[in-house]
Amino acid sequence: MNRIEAKFVEMHPQSKPLADKANGLFAQGVTHVSRQMFPYPVYMERGSGPFKWDVDGNKYIDYKTGHGSMILGQAHPAIVNAVQSQMANGTHLSSGTRFEVEWGDAVCRLVPSVEKLRFVGSGTEALMMAFKMARVFSGKEKIVKFAGAFHGWSDPAYVTDPETDRQYGIPTGTSDSIINAPPHDLDAIDEILTARDDIAAVVFQGNDIAPPEFIRGLRELTKIHGILLIFDEVVSGFRWSNAGCQGRYGITPDLSAFAKILAGGLPGGCVGGRADVIDTVGEGGIRHPGTFNANPLSAAAGSTALGIVERDGVVETAEKQAVRLKDGINKVLQSMEIPGGAYGVSSIVMVSLGTPVDTDDPHAVPVGVEQGGRPVANEVLDQLQLAIINEGLWTHPASMILSATHSDHDIDETVNKYEAGLQAVRSSGLI
Ligand SMILES: Cc1ncc(COP(=O)(O)O)c(C=O)c1O
Repeated sequence: MNRIEAKFVEMHPQSKPLADKANGLFAQGVTHVSRQMFPYPVYMERGSGPFKWDVDGNKYIDYKTGHGSMILGQAHPAIVNAVQSQMANGTHLSSGTRFEVEWGDAVCRLVPSVEKLRFVGSGTEALMMAFKMARVFSGKEKIVKFAGAFHGWSDPAYVTDPETDRQYGIPTGTSDSIINAPPHDLDAIDEILTARDDIAAVVFQGNDIAPPEFIRGLRELTKIHGILLIFDEVVSGFRWSNAGCQGRYGITPDLSAFAKILAGGLPGGCVGGRADVIDTVGEGGIRHPGTFNANPLSAAAGSTALGIVERDGVVETAEKQAVRLKDGINKVLQSMEIPGGAYGVSSIVMVSLGTPVDTDDPHAVPVGVEQGGRPVANEVLDQLQLAIINEGLWTHPASMILSATHSDHDIDETVNKYEAGLQAVRSSGLI
């Protein structure tokens, strides 16, 4: 065990027995693939604004922010109030509630392309439903997605290649229903849409850092070919702008999938868009049950959260703080002479270590390995993750998601802690 790992173990004695117990209970010892950690995961106890505390009482500045759902920070007082008062009034009334109407209305106000919508339980479900609606509406079967894009963990969303599909238990019929297109390549999309007459929709991940002209071109091409365009706004929704990626770039998709911020930190998702496509749910079309669709707690949290997004400029605040964080990390990388850079759109900060990136261009990505990029090894990132956790940052070192509650002081402290983490890794001779 090296010095970084030894410090981690020393700081997290109470997480260890929980991790040991969890190893016998859960596959991989965790309940979300990204929560795996060596030597063992940290168990959190509470959060407030931009901070979290683990079971040992260690305090962190949080940049995982509920996998991107907590743009209002942890335990926002208005959300706590809304959920607590509904809690006392019942958590499932087996009927519609006032909150679901307010929630749906807020989505339509914030996202002009949403004429009608349907609530579901998660982002994964929202994409499943969007694919289904596109199929029923068009009478066609195939969905085009971009290779490497993430659209939740349903079978169609995970289709990759025959070997991986077999590994993930995806039936051949489902694999055959998906076409993986090369990312950011309009000519390739044009070729696919021209050559085939069995395509129901193209799906684009809104938080993919793509040049805006590619996204606009995709809208044009799908329109020309008469194909539905689905935006996966699960991450970008209510973050890239109040209306998500589509609002930031002025694009009108036919359908959009939302989750995360949508539900104010509780579970929930929706698919919204053209009324004629959404109305494929109904008599003679798609039958859509779902015990916890628009459940009162999620509806109360979600309608309250979207009201705050609409009123308080939280998207702009989080983005402003992301710019401060990128500037700070870039200065550290320069002064430590580490090739790379902090980059990214809106309030998600990506950090490239080892491979340069044009930090003046918000839509630039690090150069690929084929073009000479030399990203640091995953083992180095794992060590850096432990080192910055030891410093009091709760984040993956290459991907940091901000909330509107991170203050200037929090950001400046983060930059110092990030630098201390890098120094610890450098002391081990790794970077
Ligand atoms: C772009 C994108 N789409 C879909 C999903 C799936 O959402 P959920 O985890 O709510 O099922 C995620 C989850 O992180 C996501 O990042």
